[in-house]
Amino acid sequence: MTIKIKTNDEIEKMRIAGRLAAEVLTMITPHVVPGVTTGELDQICHKYITEKQQAIPAPLNYHGFPKSICTSINDVICHGIPGDRKLKKGDILNIDITVIKDGYHGDTSMMFHIGNFSDKEKQTPQYQARERLIQITRECLFKGIAEVKPGASLKAIGRIIQAHAEQANYSVVREYCGHGIGAVFHEEPQVVHYDDAQIKDVIIEEGMTFTIEPMINMGKHQLKTLNDGWTVKTKDRSLSAQWEHTLLVTANGVEILTQREQEQTLYLT
Ligand code: MF3
Ligand code: CO
Ligand code: CO
Repeated sequence: MTIKIKTNDEIEKMRIAGRLAAEVLTMITPHVVPGVTTGELDQICHKYITEKQQAIPAPLNYHGFPKSICTSINDVICHGIPGDRKLKKGDILNIDITVIKDGYHGDTSMMFHIGNFSDKEKQTPQYQARERLIQITRECLFKGIAEVKPGASLKAIGRIIQAHAEQANYSVVREYCGHGIGAVFHEEPQVVHYDDAQIKDVIIEEGMTFTIEPMINMGKHQLKTLNDGWTVKTKDRSLSAQWEHTLLVTANGVEILTQREQEQTLYLT
């Protein structure tokens, strides 16, 4: 097993690709409202990536994926295909963006809670349950990020994420994980989001670039894949959330390559 340590030149390209992926999420945010279809969001992102950024949307034709972004609504865990589905108030949506610029990948995703809610509506248990899933999943990502530094164990990331998800009575998806990233979309190492005794540990080193992207279910962790060959849903139809960043291991810690300009980082230990 070989994990590619990036050169300074590659790191500079990863910084650019990461920034572009983050900027797509910032750009699309005001469009993520009730009534818009996920297909329309895909078209807007595709145009922005290819025309404004002069970059490539990595998902398009990746192992046959038909669209430029992934849109995963409610009980969809990941790899939702944009289409005619209109967003409606109360949906939760993950948008996952991967761009290729100058041969290097930036990969990031975030959650949207669709619609505007009055203070009274925000007090309903349904609203609060959805919001709690979204926020705990984001905390899982940042708890994982806080583990990243040279000399640390890669498996500690999964341990802390699983502990945080399960103390909240949620479950961690097992079949999909974070990944090394660079000139290749998915490369070694695998970054699992739970404690897996089967997997050999890796010592984190300066110059590694990988994603952390926990998928957390409100119910059980089991999943099913739809007949389209892509859409992954929770088996029990419970809601699922995911957040993702692309990371660079620095001399003393971590740089979040896909951090958005307005994004407040969480420092959780
Ligand atoms: N962006 C996803 C990830 O975080 C991969 C999407 S692959 C696709 O690794 F083909 F579904 F787009
Ligand atoms: Co990824
Ligand atoms: Co992604």
